[in-house]
Amino acid sequence: MDVAKAIAILLTNGGKAKDYIGLDKIKKKGVPKIMVPTSSGTGAEVTFTAVFLDEETGSKAGMNGDPLYPDAAILDPNLTLSLPAHVTAYTGIDALTHALEAYTSTQAHAISEIYSLEAIKLISQHLPKAFANGDDIEARSGMLMGSLLGGKALATAGVGLVHAMAYPMGGMFGIPHGLANAVLLPYVIDFNMIGSMKKYAALANVLGEETHGLTLREASYLTVVALWNLNNDVAIPSNLEELDITQDKIHEMAEIALTVTRPVENNPRKPSLEDVIHVYTQAYNGTLSAFSL
Ligand SMILES: [Fe+2]
Repeated sequence: MDVAKAIAILLTNGGKAKDYIGLDKIKKKGVPKIMVPTSSGTGAEVTFTAVFLDEETGSKAGMNGDPLYPDAAILDPNLTLSLPAHVTAYTGIDALTHALEAYTSTQAHAISEIYSLEAIKLISQHLPKAFANGDDIEARSGMLMGSLLGGKALATAGVGLVHAMAYPMGGMFGIPHGLANAVLLPYVIDFNMIGSMKKYAALANVLGEETHGLTLREASYLTVVALWNLNNDVAIPSNLEELDITQDKIHEMAEIALTVTRPVENNPRKPSLEDVIHVYTQAYNGTLSAFSL
């Protein structure tokens, strides 16, 4: 889908893909494009972003701008039935991360929150079923709609620190985007919690937890635990060590993560270099403060 977006604007704008890396560098609308996703993750069928690997630098780079918005998206769950279980899990948690990070983004607003909440509900209900039985057409449908709504949420409110911290894990260790996000997700929410406690507390209900009589902090912790359990259900490794990331690279990864400026700025808690090192270290050791509940 990202290649289609890039070709569509290159046909009308000319030049090379590299000329348009960054924000709002594309001047003319592209040729019409209809997106048909075959996984439930990126939400690229409704976003204005196209991401590529720069083979010279080894890092990912994206073009961003309104001309990249697709003209139509067609969701057919039959096209996702053959997605292997582990790809279903990685892409599904990526979609969930889009919705969660958009929900607590500093750019969130009434409309983006509607997209986020519905996406979180759909994905948390349907991902374990789609993982357990890839032929479950109802679960596949729910995941496709959840992924699209997560894309709408991220297109309007942006993503946060999970995405920034996942970025160097892809660049330095070749870990797939969705997998890196999934492993980091509970740890980053654990860190973010005090920055948006009311919203994180509200998410516990959306994720199916019972919060009656709980304090905001207790309900927020339940959100972290629910995400941890969901990861566990779909066989996501529980820490960075299991991904063969070495501890001596944490400092370098943290420095790179902070260069991913927009997601860092969107994050509900402003992270320092020490903070990012701390979160990677927690994720390496498998330590969550929510476990103290
Ligand atoms: Fe993502």
